[in-house]
Amino acid sequence: MPIPTTVRVVEVGPRDGLQNEAQPISVADKVCLVDALADAGLRYIEVGSFVSPKWVPQMAGSAEVFAAIAQQPGVTYAALAPNMRGFEAAVAAGVKEVAVFAAATEAFSQRNINCSISESLQRFEPIMEAAQRHDVRVRGYVSCVLGCPYEGSVTAEQVAPVASALYQLGCYEVSLGDTLGTGTPGATRRLFETVADVIPRKQLAGHFHDTYGQALANVYASLLEGISVFDSSVAGLGGCPYAKGATGNVATEDLVYLLQGLGVETGIDLERLIAAGQRISDVLGRVNGSRVAQARRAQ
Ligand code: HMG
Ligand code: MG
Repeated sequence: MPIPTTVRVVEVGPRDGLQNEAQPISVADKVCLVDALADAGLRYIEVGSFVSPKWVPQMAGSAEVFAAIAQQPGVTYAALAPNMRGFEAAVAAGVKEVAVFAAATEAFSQRNINCSISESLQRFEPIMEAAQRHDVRVRGYVSCVLGCPYEGSVTAEQVAPVASALYQLGCYEVSLGDTLGTGTPGATRRLFETVADVIPRKQLAGHFHDTYGQALANVYASLLEGISVFDSSVAGLGGCPYAKGATGNVATEDLVYLLQGLGVETGIDLERLIAAGQRISDVLGRVNGSRVAQARRAQ
């Protein structure tokens, strides 16, 4: 199968990246990050989450962030919504696209959203109905597709029914999340081969955390499977609060560099992206997690 000629990059840094940060980050710094990412050519940015502030305190200011960003035409600004309460708050904040999130394992579902997999899917039903009424698009996530912090190994056969259920509910795209970042390219190819039996490849996305340094290799394996949408986080920010030790997503800069090398079109300006990643790394007092950004800065 030839690799796709264009790829859509879903920037999750402001949400997946920052949700794990214990230190306070001002609304102004979050807004600056989102606007800089749009200026760098990102056309899909996950800005925040409408979840319980007791569970994920860092995302509590998401409505304020939405109110202050300079929304550009042609850019999708999305947010996570775990239940109707979150969906309603997102709509009130003017959000036009939300993401619901389920898990491939019961233990992670309980730890992350405090309910079973089937309860979570039931919770999403009214969200899907309300989304249609409000003309809001819904993306779906499945977490722990290549390993679970509580249950260990996860098979593609465990993932496929959950992904399929989200697709059947009306999610226009399902992103398969290697939450722990333990997955390897062989397992990634098997995963997409299996899930492609129930969801068309064009409606699938890859979401790779880089804990074991496999994320870029997993992206390449996914490209070989015809997958053309990837989630990534500028400067490799982040991790999941319910997956201890897991690091951030593949860095957007590194993903863009890989794709440029393959001649795959993304529409992203790498230099502006590096500048956006460096600024937020400086704000957080963290070493920039993008290898490409580090290399460019050393030149
Ligand atoms: P719960 O405790 O079972 O819910 O949590 P509840 O309905 O009993 O409500 C408990 C309290 O939360 C109540 O407040 C509610 O009002 C409030 P209290 O009466 O105690 O003061 N509440 C809310 N507040 C704001 N917004 C809401 C909301 N809902 C209830 N939407 C719940 C269930 C789902 C709310 C909770 O478990 C939760 O918020 N979980 C979110 C966890 C999360 O955000 N995890 C990280 C994102 S997922 C991820 O990172 C993985 C991903 O990147 C893919 C991958 O890498 O695999 C997507
Ligand atoms: Mg994630």
